[in-house]
Formats: sequence, C-alpha cells, structure tokens
Amino acid sequence: MKILVIGSGGREHALIWKIKQSPLVKEIFCAPGNAGTARLGINIPIDAKDLTELLAFAKKSRIDLTVIGPEVPLDMGIVDLFEAEGLKILGPSQKAAQLEANKAFSKDMMKKYGVPTARYSVFDKIIHAQDFVEDLLKTPPFVIKASGLAAGKGVVIAQSIAEANAAIKGMLTGKLFGDAGREIVIEEYLSGEEASFLAFTDGRNIIPLASSQDHKKLLDGDLGPNTGGMGAYSPAPVVTPAIHDKVMVEVMRRMVDGMAKERRTYRGILYAGLMINGDDIKTLEFNCRFGDPECQPLMMRLKSDIVPIMMEIANHGDIRHFKLDWDPRPALCIVQAAHGYPDAPRKGDEIVGLHDLDDWKDIVAFLAGVKVVDGKLVTDGGRITGITGIAETMQAVIDLVYPAAHMVDFDGRQFRDDIGRKALGR
Ligand code: AMP
Ligand code: GLY
Repeated sequence: MKILVIGSGGREHALIWKIKQSPLVKEIFCAPGNAGTARLGINIPIDAKDLTELLAFAKKSRIDLTVIGPEVPLDMGIVDLFEAEGLKILGPSQKAAQLEANKAFSKDMMKKYGVPTARYSVFDKIIHAQDFVEDLLKTPPFVIKASGLAAGKGVVIAQSIAEANAAIKGMLTGKLFGDAGREIVIEEYLSGEEASFLAFTDGRNIIPLASSQDHKKLLDGDLGPNTGGMGAYSPAPVVTPAIHDKVMVEVMRRMVDGMAKERRTYRGILYAGLMINGDDIKTLEFNCRFGDPECQPLMMRLKSDIVPIMMEIANHGDIRHFKLDWDPRPALCIVQAAHGYPDAPRKGDEIVGLHDLDDWKDIVAFLAGVKVVDGKLVTDGGRITGITGIAETMQAVIDLVYPAAHMVDFDGRQFRDDIGRKALGR
C-alpha cells in the first residue's frame, strides 16, 4: 500500500513512525512533512490547506489511503473531495468535522444528545455577551471561546469583568481571531483534571484508544499561556476503569449516535477533551483528529498494526471486531518549543544533539518544526521536538525521557520540567 499523511507536526511524525511498521505498507508520503518525516518517508512540498494539489498528487501517485493530521483540511472538506474522486481517506466529512470547527454547533449537539458539558450561551453581539457576564454570571473566572478554529488559542479564561469584556470585544470584532471569533461561546468555569479520550469510529462502532493527558499551559504547574500542548503521557490514571466506561456511554456513544441521527455520520478519530472531577465528567470540546502531542505516546504504546482499522474506516466498513493491543507500560512525551512560543516563535536556531538519541533504547525523537538548512537542523516553527519514551513505570519513564531531552539543545529552548508529575500523584 501507498499511504499519504497530511500535516507537518510531531503528531504526523509519530503516525508515520507507526504506519511504517505495518507489513501492509510499501511507501509513505507526507505533505508537507518535516525533517523527521523525511527520514521515514518522502516529503511532498504541498501545504496541508492546498486541497487541489493534494488531490492531484494522491490521484497521480495512486495513494491507497490518506490520513489527515490537522483539523483545517478536514474543515475545508478534504474528505468529501477525495471520496468524490473514489479515493480512500481517514477522517470525518466537512459536515461531521463541524464538531470541532464550530464550537457553538458542538455545544448544541452535546446539549441535544445529553453529552455532559459545561452550561453555556452563544453570542454574536457584544452588548448581549457583556450583559450576560455582568448581570448573570457576575463572579469570575469567565470562560470565553471563539466558536471557530483558532489553532488551540481561542479560549480566554478571564479573571475579571474587565478582562472578559475585552475578550468579548476582541473576539466579536474579529480583532483577536478573525472570522473564527465572530461568534462566541461563554460557559461555566469547570475545575478538575483534564484528560484526552480518543477513539476510532466507523460511524456506528467505537474502538477507544488508550487514555492520555496533555499539558496545555506553557509553564510548570499549569501556569502561563495556553499552547498547542507541551507534553503528554499515556495512560492517564485519572481515567479509571469506571470513568472510562462512563465516557464511552455518556460521551462517545451519545455523540456518535447523535451525529448519525443528524445525517452527519462521523467516521475517523473522535477526540473528547474531558474535565474530570471525582466521578463527574464534563466534555470541554471535541476534536476530529489525533491530538498533538497525545499521539506521540499513544503510537509508542500501540502494539497492533494501525493500518487495517484505518483502512476499514476509510472503506466505510465495520470495525466492530477490531481489537487494539496496548503496551501496558506508560509512555511520555516532552515537547521542546522555540524561543518566543506561543506568541512569536523564533525560527532558524540550530538544533544540536538530536542524532545522539538514535541509539537510545525506548526513546524516539519525534520532530515538529524542524527543517534542514545547509546540512544542519534548525528550528522552523513553535513546537520543535517531542522526545518520547516508554518504561516500566511512570517514574521510570520520567527518569528516562528527561535526560534524553537534555541531550537536545537550541537557543531559547523552552520545555516544562513537570510533565507526568500529575500521574505520579495518583
Ligand atoms: P478547549 O479548546 O475548549 O478545549 O479549551 C482549551 C483549554 O481551556 C482547555 O484545555 C482547558 O484547559 C481550558 N478550558 C476550556 N473550557 C473550560 C471550562 N469551561 N472551564 C475551565 N477551563 C476550561
Ligand atoms: N493536544 C491538544 C490538541 O491536539 O488539540
């Protein structure tokens, strides 16, 4: 088989690393890819948003299966476009991808089908939103979300009415997130511990992946600004067997059935971002793809061949009898980000030490914003590497991955020192 993976992050590097282990696969392409994917397959210099060129490439190269990393091409309708041409592709249709791309729609779906989530209201007028915060909610924190796609940055947790009013105005006037902010969701603030729950679905059957946990804030102790994710591990002990069962029934089952009822049959990876507080679960959001960096530890733990289940979903088949085998050992990924990330990442800093990790046992350096210039590896984005490892216990994997991450260096490198610590406390 020939497989095309779309995207250029650590997630896509991890997907290709896993896909390449399948005996079914002969050739792998990545568009546009990065310096990491180039070591495992062939990078094709086509942007993930250039659907016309991606389609032309897939047809010309007779790609058997296309796998999408990021949400934007899904929201643009890449699945509909490829399927109309008879190509096999893993992911939801444009109508189904609205579960991530349109938070107002997503919240309305959760409400309609009984998926537990924070109470909310949707606004497109500044005055109505500000009145709601001042007269009804009154006490901070206030959670204000751009309805559209904002690269993971569209949520403001305001600590005062003034801050809330500024966020409302910035979003609804289009200043903060462009058109993505012209409709907003204001919702109840939830406390608890977050976890990521991903599953494969064919539109009817749901095969969950192992649980995982992201670290969204830039700094230790969950401080500082939100990022795309500074590290992840799997499994997440906060997802106990009882919580797992509850999520399957109340979140995944209800949403997959709800989407089918709405004639937006959801196929692909369904990702629920959860807030867990004791026995209580609430859904913060749905994503329509693998998480980055959750994908990195998940791929390291997945023992089964990933290609057959992907192909079955792309064929609009039935995954009821698939079973995924997981390495029982925990895996952990530490993201190293560029100077200035997340606001203004600097590019062009030379990265040293990566090749030394090639010989490390149970460690893989998944690369994100890394390119080769004059034979040297240099930073080329916000998140740069995701050093990932697997070991007997959570403490052992922390003790393995941190020294590995310290082998890699570049100017202005930022990373958290506490990835995995929450799991140790449980
Ligand atoms: P989202 O993109 O909706 O997942 O939000 C991004 C991040 O904002 C989440 O991972 C949470 O850390 C935080 N967040 C979102 N909604 C809430 C909420 N209702 N209460 C508390 N924190 C939230
Ligand atoms: N790790 C969060 C995300 O992929 O959206």
